[in-house]
Formats: sequence, structure tokens, C-alpha cells
Amino acid sequence: MSYYEIRGGRPLDGRLTVQGAKNSVLPILAAALLAPGQSVLHNCPQLSDVAATLDILRLLGCRVDREGDTVLVDASALCRVNIPERLMREMRSSVIFLGALLARLGTAELTYPGGCELGPRPIDLHLSALRSLGAEIQDIQGCLCCRQRKKPAGRELCLSMPSVGATENAMLAACGCSGITTLVGAAREPEIVDLQRFLNAMGADVAGAGESIITIRGGRPLHPAEFSVMGDRIAAATYLCGTAAAGGQIELAGVEPETLTAVLSCLEEAGCTLQTGESRIALTCQAPLKGIAPVRTAPYPGFPTDAQAILMAALAGGEGTTMFVENIFDSRYGHVDELRRMGADIQIAGRVAVVTGAGRLHGAAVRGGDLRGGAALVVAGLGAEGVTRVSGLRHICRGYQCLDRDLAQLGADIQEIPEG
Ligand code: UD1
Repeated sequence: MSYYEIRGGRPLDGRLTVQGAKNSVLPILAAALLAPGQSVLHNCPQLSDVAATLDILRLLGCRVDREGDTVLVDASALCRVNIPERLMREMRSSVIFLGALLARLGTAELTYPGGCELGPRPIDLHLSALRSLGAEIQDIQGCLCCRQRKKPAGRELCLSMPSVGATENAMLAACGCSGITTLVGAAREPEIVDLQRFLNAMGADVAGAGESIITIRGGRPLHPAEFSVMGDRIAAATYLCGTAAAGGQIELAGVEPETLTAVLSCLEEAGCTLQTGESRIALTCQAPLKGIAPVRTAPYPGFPTDAQAILMAALAGGEGTTMFVENIFDSRYGHVDELRRMGADIQIAGRVAVVTGAGRLHGAAVRGGDLRGGAALVVAGLGAEGVTRVSGLRHICRGYQCLDRDLAQLGADIQEIPEG
């Protein structure tokens, strides 16, 4: 596969509109199954994970068309309830089809989902939430056979951990149940608020997303809806950290600054100047980054695990020491060995990584092993001296519509080179 070749050290400068959010569009596409008829979804990024989700929708019998950033999903002819392992393995969020199929047809058959290798990623919370909503789920040689036999009226579900995916699965399944479901301990991520907005546009009655108790008054007749997906806060964090690494001045549009508060305050503490407005973030960085107080990943509104590698890459080429504590996933330091090839000084002990700013990193041939880890290597390359070659682009394409083109628009010297 091809790789990115980056000549680092050019300050970034310019304005960019951020793509629609991967982590929002995937559950929303699954939710479009809930009603027969055609939903119209705007601001859908062109990502390999979105293409895989559209393949699943087609396989289930939906008609799917794409016109630029708009995707049309007509779920009138939904006829299949089983998703083959090949498609389930493409990404983690394929598991959200469980709740969607149960809500619409009361049955689903699928295998365990794939996704980035970040350590164990169980789905026990998804399954126990769906069981509490009356689903019978059997694991037959790795195939999850689910039937919704009884639909309880009125139910309180407690998640022992605010899992984003389990919250989304429970919201979708509860829309198909009669009575009120109260979801306690729900994840509070902005993408859950976006899903609530879409469900309500379809005629559902969901309230509380963004807080830890979500109430779903289920059993309402649903209809297709027209909706625009929110901007991608992690893509935005990537461009901001890239500018922090390389220096310069950029303005991002299409992303809500309040969804990125934890990242923005780290960048500010590291010495960047930030200005925010409605759907707009401007960042200026004119000096090497300073070390900052410990960065501990946590469920929203804490520091997002998806931005850990990206911020680390920027700080590794700065000055001063920063401690990272990865609290969400067991194995999310895969980028560290690659950053070390570029001269980074990073020590790891279990969940903790201590980054001592090495001054400027230098270019090297590096490989991204997961989506955000790969993006972090691009961030490091933007600030590094000399040429960085980043391979493993298939991971990056899962979450960035056109990372090289966007960065080139901001003045970076980055090109995709076909291998061989
Ligand atoms: C979502 C995001 C992903 C992000 C993650 C954490 C999507 C498509 N992906 O993933 O980008 O990194 O949130 O913000 O939205 N857990 C269990 N049992 C379960 C489910 C989760 O133990 O049944 C644990 C996980 O192992 C992890 C933690 O809960 O330690 C958080 O996972 P979760 O919030 O479910 O992440 P995802 O929904 O997979």
C-alpha cells in the first residue's frame, strides 16, 4: 500500500472545514434502519469505515446512494438479519447493528466486531444491556443469535462503565421497546447527543443524552429523517496538534469547541494561543511546546483516549516533560516505538507514559498500527526535521477522509506515494 511522505518543519497556515464525525455517522447509519423509507444524511465523511457500514446496509436489503457528502439510506426493503464475519470484522461499530436490528425486526445474527487493536475490547456491557431489554442472546460458536421475545414495558438499565457503544446499542434497542427505558451510567460523548438528535428527528422520544441518565420512551412510530452529522472533534484535534507540532496559525470551521474542551486546555497550557467561536477554533503556535500537567484519558468530558497519541506526538517534539495515563484501553501505546524512531524520549510503565520533549524530532520511516496511532505519526512528521515516511495508511483511511489533502491545504509538504 502507499505511504505518506512528509517534509517536516513547515509552519501550517490557513483555514479548513472539518469532516463529519466518524464516531457519529456510524451509529446514525445503523439507526437509519429503524424506519422504512429514505433517510437523508448530510456531512457523511468518505471513510473506509463508512463504506463498510454502507456495505452492511446494502447486504441487509437497504438501498444506499451517495451524492458527495450526502448519503441516502432507504430501509424499506430490509430483509436480512445476519451480517457475515467478513463485514463485522471491518470495524468495532458494526456491533451497533445489533440494537438496530432488534428494534426494527426483533432478531439479529452477527459475529463479534473487529476494530483497532487497542487491547481487549469486550462487548459484555452491550449484551447485558440488550438482555435487560428482553433480548435472548446465544453465542453459538462465535455467532451471536439474538431474538427479542418479550418487550418489557418500563425498565431501568445500569451500565457499570460508560461505554459509548453499549449506550448507543441500548438507545437503539430501547426505541423498539414499549414503555420507558431509563439508562443509568450512560456515556456522555457528544456523538451520543448527535444520535439522540437523529432518533428524535425520526420521531423517537429520547432525552438526557450528554448527561449520565438517558430516558427513552419507546414504541413510538418512527419515520425517515433528514439530518446533518456533527463535525469530527478528533479530526479537529489532529489538525490542531499538527499545527502545535509544526508551528503556525490555523482556523478550523465545522466543529464545536465545547466538544474539545479537554484537548484545547492542554494545548493552551503547552503554549498555544486559542480563540473559539460558534463552530470555529483558531490556534496559533509560535514557540516550542512546553510540558504540561498529567494527561489522564477518561470518558467524556475527560481527555479523549482518541486524542492521546496525537497530543503525545506533538509534545514529544517540544520541551519539558509530560506524563500520560491511558485509562480507557489496555494497549494504546503502539505509536510510542515508532515515535522513538524519530528521536522521541518516551518511557512506558503499564498505563503510564512519560514524554520528555526532545526538541525537534527527526524524520524516519514509521508505520501506523492503528487509526489514531497512525495520525499521531503524521503529526510528529509535520514538526520533524527532514523526511518522514508514514506507512499503514489503511488504518488512517478508516477515520480521515483526506488527511494529506487537508494538511497540504494548510501548507504542509505531504504527499501520498504509491508503494513500489
Ligand atoms: C468508542 C469510539 C472509540 C473511542 C471509545 C472510547 C466509536 C465508533 N468508537 O469506542 O473511537 O476510542 O469510544 O471513547 O464511537 N468495555 C467493556 N465492555 C463492553 C464495552 C466496553 O469492558 O461491553 C470497556 C472497553 O474495553 C474500554 C471502555 O469500556 O475499556 C470504553 O469502551 P467504549 O466506550 O465501549 O468504546 P467503543 O464504543 O468501543
